[in-house]
Amino acid sequence: MKSVKGLEESKGPKDLKTSKDLKDLKDLIGELAGIQGPSGSEEQVRAAILEKLEGLADEVKVDALGNVIAVRHGKGPKVMLSAHMDEIGVIVTHIDEKGFLRFAPVGGLNPHRLPGARVAFLNGAIGVIGVEKLEEIKELKFARLYIDIGVTDKAGAEAKVKIGDTAVMWRPMEDLGQRVVAKALDDRIGCAILLEVLRLLKKPMNETYFVFTVEEELGRRGASTSAFGIDPGYGIAVDATITGDTPEAPKVALALGKGPAIKVKDSSLISHPGVRKLLIAAAEEAGVPYQLEVLDFGGNDAGAIHLTRAGVPSGTVSIPIRYVHTPSEMADLDDVAGAIKLLVALLEKPLAI
Ligand code: CO
Ligand code: ZN
Repeated sequence: MKSVKGLEESKGPKDLKTSKDLKDLKDLIGELAGIQGPSGSEEQVRAAILEKLEGLADEVKVDALGNVIAVRHGKGPKVMLSAHMDEIGVIVTHIDEKGFLRFAPVGGLNPHRLPGARVAFLNGAIGVIGVEKLEEIKELKFARLYIDIGVTDKAGAEAKVKIGDTAVMWRPMEDLGQRVVAKALDDRIGCAILLEVLRLLKKPMNETYFVFTVEEELGRRGASTSAFGIDPGYGIAVDATITGDTPEAPKVALALGKGPAIKVKDSSLISHPGVRKLLIAAAEEAGVPYQLEVLDFGGNDAGAIHLTRAGVPSGTVSIPIRYVHTPSEMADLDDVAGAIKLLVALLEKPLAI
């Protein structure tokens, strides 16, 4: 195995307990979450991840759809970890005479969450989402919303934004102490976890693929093609999930700060029981509290990976996130640190189910 530059200086996962390590982790999450990467336009996220991968992997490549694939060699079976680079956003469908933009969602957005939100286009144009007479609208549809980019006519708008341009929610990350709030924690938090696992994993016992995928929010497209190319023996997605710990929240047994969640099922996947057991054993070995995630909706990259070729035993490590798919997603750093420790413990053993 080629020597991996930079690993000598890296510290063990237990060091994530120190406040400096937590600060570094917050900075990494904030930096990644602050980049614009709506589904199909992940270029800026990819560039940042490629830069951060320097010295951490034996091989790095970008595939035809734009997925970033970093490999750490090991003797055991091929394991594919995936976190998606893309985030939910909006796409311009029409520009009116006064310069107001109409738009459609890119990924799962709820129109009720949007009035007053700001969006940022890839070229830096900023807009605010306005709503037609809100009091008259019983069921808010995207058609009743518009984006105001601060111009007075169509020509002014077209100088800034074209039909088909995409934008993302625009908010800086706020450090609330134990918790952070930012746009796009789904799934830059997963990207940050994969990068940290790469940094902390001293001796991978498996041929380990760290895949940063495109277009998850549009139906797991990057995971489908990258998994086909890699042909892994096991698949593990690292992604955001919901919580049931806010006022009047749906009865879901997931809360911030109670540890990473090991998925049992969602509507795209029933986790392979063997993989689920391995993840639980790794959490116990690493001394990480964990939660079990059962959803009757949603899905992530593992939903695509497990259906690849003749089938791939797969599971998911989820990070509970409040207000997921809004401009202000909230996560707890203990859950992130726990996921990193769990995955390092998992990958330091040869995988077998
Ligand atoms: Co999502
Ligand atoms: Zn996600």
